[in-house]
Amino acid sequence: MSKLPLPEQWKPYFEKARAVRANAYAPYSNCQVGACITLKNGESFVGCNVENSSIGATVCAERGAIQTAIATHGKSQVEIHHVVVVSDAQPAWMPCGLCRQVLSEFGLDFKVIAVNLQGEWREITFRELYPASFTSDEMNAQKS
Ligand code: THU
Repeated sequence: MSKLPLPEQWKPYFEKARAVRANAYAPYSNCQVGACITLKNGESFVGCNVENSSIGATVCAERGAIQTAIATHGKSQVEIHHVVVVSDAQPAWMPCGLCRQVLSEFGLDFKVIAVNLQGEWREITFRELYPASFTSDEMNAQKS
């Protein structure tokens, strides 16, 4: 259920995601998306969707943001604290299935806040959003 207004605590991250959304390359869907991923160390990284004529090669905003976090720090410091996604949709879009899988590699205990341009928002824990996820734990258990 969407709510208004956006709580103060999310506003700085909303602004970052909204700003980067303007750079989104979305000529096929005409749906620009921005994401701001904040790590447990307090740093934030942003990303926008970058579409492709092949459609399948499209990269979502969330995956763009996590790529930059990893490129900046490597895995050791990349533990997700929260993810804010900004779209022009009602209700505001949550991360797609592919992004849920990619994000799960870098934390399971974080919140996702989806916000639209009107400031309508919904919040969910990642565990609720992606229950029974397939993670490195399953892979490592299989190896040993
Ligand atoms: N998209 C994102 O970037 N993030 C989401 O959370 C949902 C969808 C993008 C992918 C595609 O470029 C467009 O939005 C329409 O699906």
